Amino acid sequence: MTNADLEKIVDTSDEWIVTRTGIRQRRIAQDDMSSADMAVEAARRALEMSGRTHEEIDLIITGTVTPDYRLPSNACIVQERMGFPNAVAFDVVAACAGFINGLSIAQSYIASGVHKRALVIGTEKLSSITNYEDRNTCVLFGDAAGAAVIEPSENGHGLLSTYMKSDGSMRDWLWMPTGGSRTPYSADFAFDGTDKIQMAGSDVFKVAVKKMADAVQNVLRDAGLTVDDVSLVVPHQANIRIIEALAKRLRVGMDKVYQNIEKYGNTSAASVPLALDEANREGLLKPGDNIVLVAFGGGLIWGAAVLKW
Ligand code: ACO
Repeated sequence: MTNADLEKIVDTSDEWIVTRTGIRQRRIAQDDMSSADMAVEAARRALEMSGRTHEEIDLIITGTVTPDYRLPSNACIVQERMGFPNAVAFDVVAACAGFINGLSIAQSYIASGVHKRALVIGTEKLSSITNYEDRNTCVLFGDAAGAAVIEPSENGHGLLSTYMKSDGSMRDWLWMPTGGSRTPYSADFAFDGTDKIQMAGSDVFKVAVKKMADAVQNVLRDAGLTVDDVSLVVPHQANIRIIEALAKRLRVGMDKVYQNIEKYGNTSAASVPLALDEANREGLLKPGDNIVLVAFGGGLIWGAAVLKW
């Protein structure tokens, strides 16, 4: 879906969207493709890249705010569809920070010896919760999925540290008021947009920059590194101006910050694995590089991870 397509739906312009967000197009899944369908495809490719078997995966974590059903989890659907006989599967609800939250849980389980090998997925069909009558939000979001296989490392490469934090006091800056147990759908529900994403955009913007910078500083400190040791920052792709402000706050040049927002928009939990995969395919990640992943989303919740490639 291009900006020109959106110009036909709401009162907006390509110029406004590109200048304010950096987005030129976003992918929208077909009606018959769900977030679990995308998760299965991403998981299949990640497993293939890892060379591991289905039997070797004993943990499946899916970050999503757009599961196929409220019950069961998307992770259980992935398990059933692909067949992981030895795994426990569950979802985490951490919005755009869902993939990094999954990495952090997988790292703790693997380091403690509880699990051996995890499949971590970020998948979102945000088009299913986007109000295409609200120009404040509909220009931002797209659909995608990404996945990674996490296992113990013997050579000092891989995840060095992870960091997560949240603050529920700003929960209604980015939320969906209707459809949960507090305000279930009723027969006379008016479809007034309260079952779709509502966002206080400029408030979220300011907090996002500050909290993502804090997360990067904390995760680097935990790994015994400084920003000068970092080869590439792979941030959640929410808005190019947020990414630029983050780079400025961290005092890193934009040449060290990966961005692909113009092609996909904000894909929430899928954004970081999607960006990391593209950075890898573009040959930007070299063995021994320190890569920082960082994200921020509704909750509000934010987090970062450092990995040695
Ligand atoms: N086209 C044209 N005009 C628009 C559009 C649009 N698509 N959207 C808003 N406007 C208008 C507004 O109505 C407003 O007009 P007004 O001044 O007459 O009221 C004007 O543009 C400026 O609005 P602002 O909200 O001040 O615009 P801002 O520069 O803050 O940009 C944006 C808005 C892009 C939403 C920005 O605030 C942002 O990116 N916020 C963060 C979003 C985010 O990161 N979300 C987090 C993750 S999402 C998740 O967790 C699922």
